[in-house]
Amino acid sequence: MKTLIVRQSSILGTVPISGAKNAALPLLALMILAKNEVQIGNVPNVADINTMLKLLKLLGSEFSFVNNNLTINTSQISSTTATYDIVKTMRASILTLAPLLARFGECKVSLPGGCAIGLRPVDLHLKALAKMGADIKIENGYIHAVAKEGLKGCEIVFDKITVTGTENIIMAAVLADGVTKILNAAKEPEVVQLCEVLRDNGVEIAGIGTSSITIRGYGELLEIAPFDVIPDRIEAGTYLCAGAIANSKITVENVVFEHMENIVNKLKEMNFDFEITSNKITILPTTNINPVNIITSEHPGFPTDMQAQFMAVATQADGVSTIEEKLFENRFMHVAELNRLGANIKINAKVATIYGPTKLVGADVMATDLRASSALVLGGIIAEGETRIHRVYHLFRGYENLVEKLNNIGVDVELIDEEAQ
Ligand code: EPZ
Repeated sequence: MKTLIVRQSSILGTVPISGAKNAALPLLALMILAKNEVQIGNVPNVADINTMLKLLKLLGSEFSFVNNNLTINTSQISSTTATYDIVKTMRASILTLAPLLARFGECKVSLPGGCAIGLRPVDLHLKALAKMGADIKIENGYIHAVAKEGLKGCEIVFDKITVTGTENIIMAAVLADGVTKILNAAKEPEVVQLCEVLRDNGVEIAGIGTSSITIRGYGELLEIAPFDVIPDRIEAGTYLCAGAIANSKITVENVVFEHMENIVNKLKEMNFDFEITSNKITILPTTNINPVNIITSEHPGFPTDMQAQFMAVATQADGVSTIEEKLFENRFMHVAELNRLGANIKINAKVATIYGPTKLVGADVMATDLRASSALVLGGIIAEGETRIHRVYHLFRGYENLVEKLNNIGVDVELIDEEAQ
């Protein structure tokens, strides 16, 4: 395993933002429903994407992935089993469930285990597919789904808003017989792009970007024209938080402001100002950082994937901040690690209270999940001396060219092999 060493640094400059991992993952699963070879641009070269490509290859797909350009052909898929050894490394493999079932009438997908941030059940995915006519059995840790007569369009009401649940049912609806209406659907930009790619390739969809999405079954596999993955709003938000915690001028480019207005607005509440153009956002140094109150919620609310990064920034605010995590039951793993750096954060049930400003001093810390790890990098940028982030593979799941991008804005950062434990 690798350790990332981050030394106290002055930062300044521009970060080119990559394609969104959480948009690319459902779009790769959607390729199971394409009959042609598809060209996809701006695909981030990160671990989770390579895991999904490995899964699609194991199923029988062929692809080439060079310089963020992906050419993929799934016409030769011969297996419909997503095995545990792959799914356990990336729970978003669950996104292959609906397309495999819709195309082949039967599939087996390993139940994704939980992860550091929570149990991550998929009961809502399964309940919805069952309502569309699938016979769902859980056997030996696998979801065995059968729909020999195909899926039937119907009305699906999600008990909770689920991003990948919404994405799975959107894909199920493409080959379902009749019309599917999804109520209480997720509205994240990544869900929107999945709908837009379907619409642009002939699928009748209404309500894109709303909590009520209606899809008419297309009846056959799709001919999909080339498209580019949208920019990663969470990666961009993370680098804006680097500018915030270091109180330095940082620009993120190749971004869509509308996807991350909620993130920028929360930083404005903390007394930061911005320069905004069509595809760039620059955070400007401020006189003082205001404390903030955050409650995570589904889009367009404050994104849970930015919670850890804002907590790091809040350690430098002049006063007491609170963060309530409402989506996941265990998404405060970064608190103990930030406290090791000198932060003063208390947790009471789902609410973290951050007492600032506190001086951070470098220490050994442990990465636990993708976004928690990025919060430790932010802390390391301002912590006195050297911060050594262990088990840093979590970071490379979702941040493309991380070391290079950090170096390019002046962060003194180095990746080393972890000493034998
Ligand atoms: C997606 O996960 C993202 N992953 C997550 O990003 C993100 O944190 C999350 O949405 C919330 O925005 C991808 O898009 C690949 P959910 P997902 O289903 O779809 C409960 C990252 O850092 N739930 O929207 O798995 C669930 O337990 C990752 O990139 C059920 O109870 O999240 C959670 O409390 C981390 N039953 C809530 O709903 C279900 O069947 C929201 O989960 C499904 C979900």
